[in-house]
Amino acid sequence: MSVPWWRSAVVYQIYPRSFADADADGVGDLRGITGRLEHVRDLGADAVWLSPIYRSPMADFGYDIADYTDVDPMFGSLADADALIARAHELGLRVLLDFVPNHTSDLHPWFVESRASPDAAKRNWYVWRDGEGVPNNWLSTFGEQRPAWTRDHPTGEWYLHSFLPQQPDLNWDEPAVEAAMHDVLRFWLRRGVDGVRIDVAQKIGKDPALGDNEPGRRHDEDWPSVHPRLAAIRRVLEEFDDDRVAVGEVYLLDQRALARYVTSGDELHLAHNFYFLRLPWSAERFRAAVDEFELLTHAGGWPAWCLNNHDHPRTATRYGHARARVAAVMVLTLRGTPFIFQGEELGLTDGAVPAEAIVDVDRRDPERVPIPWEPGPGTGFTTGRPWLPTHPDADRLAATVQDGNPASALELYRALLALRRATPALQHGSYRPVHAAPDLFAYVREHEGERVLVALNFAPFPRPLPAEAEGARVLLSTHAERTGELAGDEARVFELGRADQAPVAE
Ligand code: NOJ
Repeated sequence: MSVPWWRSAVVYQIYPRSFADADADGVGDLRGITGRLEHVRDLGADAVWLSPIYRSPMADFGYDIADYTDVDPMFGSLADADALIARAHELGLRVLLDFVPNHTSDLHPWFVESRASPDAAKRNWYVWRDGEGVPNNWLSTFGEQRPAWTRDHPTGEWYLHSFLPQQPDLNWDEPAVEAAMHDVLRFWLRRGVDGVRIDVAQKIGKDPALGDNEPGRRHDEDWPSVHPRLAAIRRVLEEFDDDRVAVGEVYLLDQRALARYVTSGDELHLAHNFYFLRLPWSAERFRAAVDEFELLTHAGGWPAWCLNNHDHPRTATRYGHARARVAAVMVLTLRGTPFIFQGEELGLTDGAVPAEAIVDVDRRDPERVPIPWEPGPGTGFTTGRPWLPTHPDADRLAATVQDGNPASALELYRALLALRRATPALQHGSYRPVHAAPDLFAYVREHEGERVLVALNFAPFPRPLPAEAEGARVLLSTHAERTGELAGDEARVFELGRADQAPVAE
């Protein structure tokens, strides 16, 4: 069997509100994205994942959906979505959409109907409970920990919402819900999308008895029912062809639990790893995490790696600019599918958003500020008034400023993606950690005798190279000047001799 495309792919995440604004209303849109897809192609990525583009009142900026089969007018129209998909395909880019199965908007007609009365035809499409007090101890995400239940008028019953009260949870124990969500998938797969990123995938299986969460056992997610439900989603993808991919946002901080979503062979193809994403800057911690996940997925399953997205601070903010370069080399050379959040390739830090400009309920605005394409007002993102302040470092970090400058983050990313594309060992090779000095994380990737060594220095001071690097050719480094040891914050990639070349007999 040939290797599926998504194993050797690099996926680029687009947050539509902040990518490019074609109609000057200050919010990014689909025509803006279509016009900028060449940036993604030139970067060397293989696919884009778009955060939600559906009709939404935007209480959670699109993760509260009022119509799964239409585009929000702010982003454009279905025709614009078709044009985006067609243009992406012309450029050789696949398109993944965000699929949000756990909850809708409270303005979705399904919820409007469901909340009308206890006898409503769609009452059971959401999770309702009667009673004086909150039904259980489940908490909603965002800000302060609040009950995941809101009492609704006029019935006085409680409904479940794992996120905002404006995001009621669908009841996946109701077969009609599952069937309706499968139809949503078919709608987009028919339009040509190549796969989906599944929002909070672990949450579509919950204890139907609504038992209290207990220490060590949550009842509001990762319930055994989640696995057959994801397998059924996979089967819907397979109704089309074998090339459609399901990527789960599986927000579990335990790699063992995570691995169960990708190792059975009939569920998710890929799952984001939030244990890895949240690690502090430590060679030992990253190596231990990768080694553990490698073991867990060795017999089947393919890792996916990323260090941030639209919900998490940027790498350059968390770790600093120099370390963000090392992090880029790591994510793009580990065994697995890398995901790059828009702007990471520009080495952006989080934006500066003054308190009065914060609009997100969970204060995730700084990582969502518009992409600086060029210096100057609007930074090439918009000619209108941007919905979030433009990036304070646009004059230095804009794409046009970095273009062609070999010392820039953009050129480092381009070089890394080009190297990956040209090097089967980096795409498909096995992973073997090698012995290295403290503060180094070093590993060999090997494919059909071709061997590549990656050495990452997590320390800000020089460290000796691993023994394997002796005499090896350098393929790439984060540093222009290289010495016989790794400089502080340097990452270097080497070509090793072929493993199958027998030493010459004396
Ligand atoms: C995860 C998404 O990435 C985040 O932006 C959103 O707020 C929650 N899921 C709820 O949909």
